[in-house]
Amino acid sequence: MWNLKVTRITLALLAIVSACTAVTVTDVRLKSMSALAGGQMYEDISSGDGGLYAELLRNRAFQKVTPGTSAALVGWQAVNGATISVVAEGTPVSAALPNALRLTIPSGRTGAVGVANTGYFGIKVTGGATYTASFSYRFPTASSFSGSATVSLQSTSGQVFASANVPLAGSQTAWRRVSVQLRPTQSASSTNNLFVISLNGASAAGQTLSLAMLSLFPPTFKGRPNGMRVDLAEALQEMAPSFFRFPGGNNLEGQTVATRWQWNATVGPLADPAVWEIGATLTQSAGIGLMEYLEWCKDLNMIPIMGIWAGYALGGTSVPQNQLGPYIQQAADQINFVIGDPARSAAAALRASLGRTQPFDLKYVEVGNEDFFAASSYVYQWREFVTALQAQFPSIHFIATTNTFNPVLTPNPTEYDVHVYQTPTWFAQNSFFYDGFQRNGTKYFEGEYAAISTNPNDIFGPPSNGRLVYPTMQSAAGEAAFMTGLERNSDIVFAAAYAPLIGHATNNQWTPNLLAFDAGAVYKSTSFYVQKLFSLNRGEAYIPSTLPSRTGTLFWSVVRKNAGNQIITKISNTATSVASLTFVLPFANVASSGTAQVLTGGATTSNTPSNPNAVVPATSTIATGKTFNYNAPPVSVSVLTFAAS
Ligand SMILES: *[C@@H]1O[C@H](CO)[C@@H](O)[C@H](O)[C@H]1NC(C)=O
Ligand SMILES: *[C@@H]1O[C@H](CO)[C@@H](O)[C@H](O)[C@H]1NC(C)=O
Repeated sequence: MWNLKVTRITLALLAIVSACTAVTVTDVRLKSMSALAGGQMYEDISSGDGGLYAELLRNRAFQKVTPGTSAALVGWQAVNGATISVVAEGTPVSAALPNALRLTIPSGRTGAVGVANTGYFGIKVTGGATYTASFSYRFPTASSFSGSATVSLQSTSGQVFASANVPLAGSQTAWRRVSVQLRPTQSASSTNNLFVISLNGASAAGQTLSLAMLSLFPPTFKGRPNGMRVDLAEALQEMAPSFFRFPGGNNLEGQTVATRWQWNATVGPLADPAVWEIGATLTQSAGIGLMEYLEWCKDLNMIPIMGIWAGYALGGTSVPQNQLGPYIQQAADQINFVIGDPARSAAAALRASLGRTQPFDLKYVEVGNEDFFAASSYVYQWREFVTALQAQFPSIHFIATTNTFNPVLTPNPTEYDVHVYQTPTWFAQNSFFYDGFQRNGTKYFEGEYAAISTNPNDIFGPPSNGRLVYPTMQSAAGEAAFMTGLERNSDIVFAAAYAPLIGHATNNQWTPNLLAFDAGAVYKSTSFYVQKLFSLNRGEAYIPSTLPSRTGTLFWSVVRKNAGNQIITKISNTATSVASLTFVLPFANVASSGTAQVLTGGATTSNTPSNPNAVVPATSTIATGKTFNYNAPPVSVSVLTFAAS
């Protein structure tokens, strides 16, 4: 999250003649394009638990809470006079989960008495779907009680959608894990629903039981256990991403050295601590761990770009250079977990024990995240990590996270990850950012970018100062203008990702996000549609044409898909008036018609939960030919496709 230094580039610009821009396409000097151009940057800051991770219960395992406090009960409420509290269990369900929920049924109550979870700001109940509820329980003091618990999905006003019984015996003083399926026959009209575990007040009066590691899963993407939420996963799949960068970002760094992301705390049983601590409205449980990331990459056919922690924590603490050994070893273990030989590495053997003997594909490893943010006394530990790891993993490309060439790093990075959060105008005016870069073998990853504010003096300020809550048409058009430059420079820009990818619509730690969601739905932003338009309309070769004006408001790029000789032109008009273009094509044959996919809307219009489809792409047929005109609507992104040979 930083501001790029603007590179001045001198290029021959074509004058804009009257209101019409002539674009001459010259079918020479085809530049090969990176197949990785569009991808996804993911980090679990307000998007994992209660988001992409399909778990529906909030605070399911009482991790990172202080027993006895009301805060420890976040997500939970008593039903019909029950007494509930979070306690430090004398006999915890696992070493990693020391806390449990104590439920006491007082005497004098009738009907269902128990405890309810409110989900992550609601629970979606879908008729016909199968939900899997599970939890561990024990009676701290043995009793002669014999009965059952009722597990149900119900509305906050008491309408029961599904329920199932779990037999309970008071003699059960050791932890016992139970699982039941809930099949609502009808969908709830809203997400104001609860997950309830209750006992009969009359027969269970006086009983106390402990509950731990409670879970409620709806059907998941591709039916994977512990998997991803279907609607969010499908929206991400719809973008046809080519790579996935994980685990962030600030999520990788952690607030302190101790709370950094540690791969080994995210694999194996679901019993691991949260790592992101910044104002965590959604405490994460690392339910999505390294194994899930890698499976997810396979499911969506994405290349992983995996981060390793490099000595610096977000809160400003860092590890002195002479004490980095164990951290470099942990990074080596992380890489070995992904690609190592189980016969030679314990981490790889752990992977094999989890069912994956074969190595995953891994080509890119990023060293740290924005470590140049650190205090001036701190030096990015690139040399220590890369020198040690490159020797062990010669096939891996290590990506540096720093300003390009500043500081000068040793060994010389072959790949840089560049991040920029800026104004829509900045993005448009920097679409030539990479044109002046030397073609000398060094490659660039535009790893995080987004237009986040309209106020150049207050990029990270509050919404009242121009900070966006949702991407607007204007911000999306600015990004699209910049992306035409990434396409033109895709011989050296090998990958690019909008960031962040997803965030809860209201309970988030960062805006804007590419996709917003709440318990019930996913909201696709204007920027999402731009990413999708660019991703689904990639070329195999970039075709040079008249260059846009660097300081103008109209930007384009032309690519060719060789199969079928498809010519694809992307146009961003960031102005609030129509822009006329004339295309002059060098091909012998050009089809007389093609298609235009156009995203356009008011400059400040966003897709929001109350108006989710304010701006969506529309497809129409356009007349094309060796020379043809196209009128780009005000504040628009157009993708024109036609055949030519
Ligand atoms: C992960 O491994 C590190 C050593 O690399 C160790 O210090 C730490 O305790 C481990 N964490 C868990 C949860 O196993
Ligand atoms: C490529 O050029 C940049 C900037 O001029 C320089 O810093 C970098 O070291 C060069 N890379 C190689 C591999 O020579």
